[in-house]
Amino acid sequence: MSSTPTTNSLLEKLGLLLVAVVVLRVTRTALRLFYRHVLGPSALCRGTVDFAKCGRWAAVTGATDGLGKAYARQLASRGMDLVIISRTQAKLDATADEIRTEYPGRQVKCVKADFTDPDTDAVFGHLTRELHGLEIGVLVNNVGMSYPYPEYFLKATEDRGDKDTGAGGHGPAMFDNMVRCNITSMVNMCRLVMPGMVERRRGCVINIGSASSEIPSPLLTMYGATKKFVEKFSRDLNTEYSGGGKQGANITVQCIMPGFVATKMSKIGRTSWLVPSPDKFVRSALQTTGLETVTTGYYPHTLMIQAIGLAQSVSESMMARMVMNNMLGTRARAIRKQAKEQQLKSIGEATTN
Ligand SMILES: NC(=O)c1ccc[n+]([C@@H]2O[C@H](COP(=O)([O-])OP(=O)(O)OC[C@H]3O[C@@H](n4cnc5c(N)ncnc54)[C@H](OP(=O)(O)O)[C@@H]3O)[C@@H](O)[C@H]2O)c1
Repeated sequence: MSSTPTTNSLLEKLGLLLVAVVVLRVTRTALRLFYRHVLGPSALCRGTVDFAKCGRWAAVTGATDGLGKAYARQLASRGMDLVIISRTQAKLDATADEIRTEYPGRQVKCVKADFTDPDTDAVFGHLTRELHGLEIGVLVNNVGMSYPYPEYFLKATEDRGDKDTGAGGHGPAMFDNMVRCNITSMVNMCRLVMPGMVERRRGCVINIGSASSEIPSPLLTMYGATKKFVEKFSRDLNTEYSGGGKQGANITVQCIMPGFVATKMSKIGRTSWLVPSPDKFVRSALQTTGLETVTTGYYPHTLMIQAIGLAQSVSESMMARMVMNNMLGTRARAIRKQAKEQQLKSIGEATTN
């Protein structure tokens, strides 16, 4: 059956409309990126927040590795004293020494805390005592945990009887740990630190979310969902407490949603344009604070999210299937690697016995 001229012209019009939408979206993104990263205040004056003027101390959770450590170092370079918080005393001491050597004159206070601990009253009681009396102007809620590798929702909490995977591994406690580490820690740290900021009428809270809350993240379903909470919480908290809110405070709350960064969590060792080092990423992210409430913080990651969004606007299900296939590939490789490691371990144990 041949199509009529009316059908042809309708299809042409629809095609033109689709092209126009795509061109508009790409142009808008390009202009926005150009303004924010080339022309705008972030490029001209290192962002709009003068961190040191927010208060003397910056508190950073998960500060002994990856993004948290990079935030700590860069806030020290901007004249702030630091409270660094994580689980391992040796790593805390080493990070504190490193920062004191790099930035002489800066004070670094170490606080040992495990945000997956089910006794949250004890954890935050301890933190309240440790932070008491400190003028904390900047809070970076960076601590977070993901899956050891992508896994089906119901399989991720199976008891595998493998003690070596530890608190961050798959197993019955993983989702509870994830909620405590990615959500409860942020909410309680804000409740602990923000009253001082409100009293002083200034401060800055940076919450680390993830690009996985914006793009499909099957097999990391719980992780993506906890990070969506981070985004929503930050956006509305910013409205409540920024200059425009009725609380009379001038607190900036920002959510950073990184794509891949080369850290222990991502298990990516080699950096590239799309996978920056933590230092490169954080330098870029800090330039957006005060300028953007919710952002990837790094323009190649913004481009990646926009490209995925564009593909989703063509076919959401196709995009979801593509990501799912990719995740299944990562899962299969991780399972093979784990089996190999287990085999080598058994051989090692057999030879020592
Ligand atoms: N890397 C990425 O590609 C990526 C992408 C998107 C979002 N993110 C987000 O960025 C944040 C930082 O990730 P990262 O890649 O920098 O991680 P990382 O390199 O693995 O560092 C994690 C830090 O958190 C501490 N930590 C881990 N579990 C903890 C717990 N239960 N209680 C207290 N401290 C704990 C670790 O020290 P101890 O082990 O000594 O406690 C370490 O200092 C996370 O929120 C993550 O979701 C990362």
